[in-house]
Amino acid sequence: MPDFIPASKMQVLYSAGQISARVAELGRQISADYVGQSVVLVGVLKGATLFLADLARAIELDNTFDFVAVSSYGKGTRTSGAVRLIKDLDLPIEGKNVLVVEDILDTGVTLGYLRKMLMQQKPRSLRIVACLDKPSRRIDNSVQADYVGFTIPNHFVVGYGMDYAEKYRNIPDIRLMPPETGGD
Ligand code: IMP
Ligand code: MG
Repeated sequence: MPDFIPASKMQVLYSAGQISARVAELGRQISADYVGQSVVLVGVLKGATLFLADLARAIELDNTFDFVAVSSYGKGTRTSGAVRLIKDLDLPIEGKNVLVVEDILDTGVTLGYLRKMLMQQKPRSLRIVACLDKPSRRIDNSVQADYVGFTIPNHFVVGYGMDYAEKYRNIPDIRLMPPETGGD
């Protein structure tokens, strides 16, 4: 397996233009749903960083950012099943409207864990925004995203913040990882 695959060799699933149009729609919807209220955007490091950066600029609300980090897939494309908190919130969320911003809702194990952990801090409300949703991979069926950029089949994707072994996050489009490199 090559150590690095140029983006030009990976098929585009959603172009940068399609992503920004969809993020603008999500921003309008969230701005309307929370009109007159403030929100805390809680990004899940590192995959959600580019999505949060764009989404934050697409919402017209009084808002703050915070970030959490959890243990992830490590080097490969499969989840280990066990989620561990690596970085907690910096600011209290009690009584606040929390929007958890995640790159992909896949098995649901990560967001199931985070939702439970954040709910213990008694936010006023908690909703999930996922750039991508892969419903066919769900293990924890109690987890749903309230706002979804795109619903996709069971493909392993990279770009727009999403990685394979920490690479490819900077690709502006969302692209399909070739299957022979370990993607689904
Ligand atoms: P879950 O706990 O299985 O829902 O895991 C979600 C996390 O797995 C996401 O935040 C991603 O970091 C990672 N992940 C799942 N599918 C993909 C993919 O296709 N490309 C890159 N990362 C993925
Ligand atoms: Mg992630």
